Amino acid sequence: MSFLDIARNRCSVRSYLPKEVDEEILLQVLEAARIAPSASNAQPWHITVVQDAEIKNKLFEAYPRDWFVKAPVILIFSVDRALSWKSRDGKDFGDIDIAIAADHVTLAAADLGLGTCWLGAFDPVKCRQAVNLSEKLEPVIMMPLGYPEYTASPDRHSTRRKSLEEIIDWK
Ligand SMILES: Cc1cc2nc3c(=O)[nH]c(=O)nc-3n(C[C@H](O)[C@H](O)[C@H](O)COP(=O)(O)O)c2cc1C
Repeated sequence: MSFLDIARNRCSVRSYLPKEVDEEILLQVLEAARIAPSASNAQPWHITVVQDAEIKNKLFEAYPRDWFVKAPVILIFSVDRALSWKSRDGKDFGDIDIAIAADHVTLAAADLGLGTCWLGAFDPVKCRQAVNLSEKLEPVIMMPLGYPEYTASPDRHSTRRKSLEEIIDWK
């Protein structure tokens, strides 16, 4: 598949098959995060890979949706703000770095026939407690990963996305 086809085919998956993800496949997906670019190459990210049923049950408290905890793998992308690069005007680029790493994961996963879903609307305190996250880390994104029960058609991009004309200003 071309890159554009992978990007078009990726969709938010909110239902997963009860099929494990082989470690070799999981490592390929995680490698895509590892090589992501970051501001000043700070690499302020940490990824918690959750496969344990008991911990998933605790994560349910942070994002109470059954489909979420049914995914075979849940990734938690956290930022270490002591490492993230800050611009002179004080802007912290850590969240951007996390988003790039997480997006690499969604696309690498799609390329391998896996589904993912970005989750930002979770309770960070409960997430932290569930995985006993280090004090120096802040959870930014949770992401279920697994084989999808369905995929959305790439056709949706013609109606559910703004047009190029709406988002681009040619000068
Ligand atoms: C930063 C970010 C946070 C998101 N948080 C959530 C979330 O908490 N729950 C959820 O169901 N989807 C979440 N989404 C998924 C979006 O709703 C979804 O990407 C968008 O509607 C476009 O649909 P698609 O991913 O299928 O193309 C999030 C997406 C992004 C990029």
